[in-house]
Amino acid sequence: MGSSVKKVLVFAGSAREASLNKQLAKLAAKRIEALGGEATFIDLKDYPCPLFDEDIEARGVPENVLKLREILADHQAVMIASPEYNGFITPLLKNTLDWLSRPYQDTPGLKLFAGKWAALVAASPGGLGGIRALPLGQQLLANLGLVVLPQPLSLAKAGSAFNDSGALHDETTGQKLDALCQRLVDSLAATH
Ligand SMILES: Cc1cc2nc3c(=O)[nH]c(=O)nc-3n(C[C@H](O)[C@H](O)[C@H](O)COP(=O)(O)O)c2cc1C
Repeated sequence: MGSSVKKVLVFAGSAREASLNKQLAKLAAKRIEALGGEATFIDLKDYPCPLFDEDIEARGVPENVLKLREILADHQAVMIASPEYNGFITPLLKNTLDWLSRPYQDTPGLKLFAGKWAALVAASPGGLGGIRALPLGQQLLANLGLVVLPQPLSLAKAGSAFNDSGALHDETTGQKLDALCQRLVDSLAATH
């Protein structure tokens, strides 16, 4: 497992400047740190990757994919905050995970994900909080070989859910996020 320090890679399945899921991902990263873990937040807008196409791959894996591969290899868990688009995970999230799932040089396909922990959260300005895509995202992450934590969090009415310092107004939802972050930190600590 690479380094002995156990780190969580945190990102959102939306590249939008004002993304609510980026806000939620940043809060999750803060809470992971507060609960004794190490977290790295990255913005996928900083690593634009083309829509996956095996012809592009055959010509050479794009530089940003290689950068993301290096970053993922240095982490032992992921925390992903993604909106749902039409009840499904976003194309950005699917595309990113598809690129990262590919074999590269002497690293077999899916190797980067093998045995890593994953937690999923979702935010939406609507009343359902992106809840329909959560089981689909969990299934995808499990297919990739990650160990997915149960009880993902969905944040409804996310447009008014955050205070000025980026925390959640609603205490109960904040506690649910903390519980998920804590389970991720504890799972990592228990991994040899
Ligand atoms: C193509 C598309 C489909 C969407 N479908 C859903 C949906 O199924 N459920 C939902 O709650 N919101 C849906 N939305 C609204 C998003 O939740 C909203 O744009 C949200 O702010 C996107 O996440 P972000 O703030 O992290 O960018 C959709 C938005 C787009 C662009």
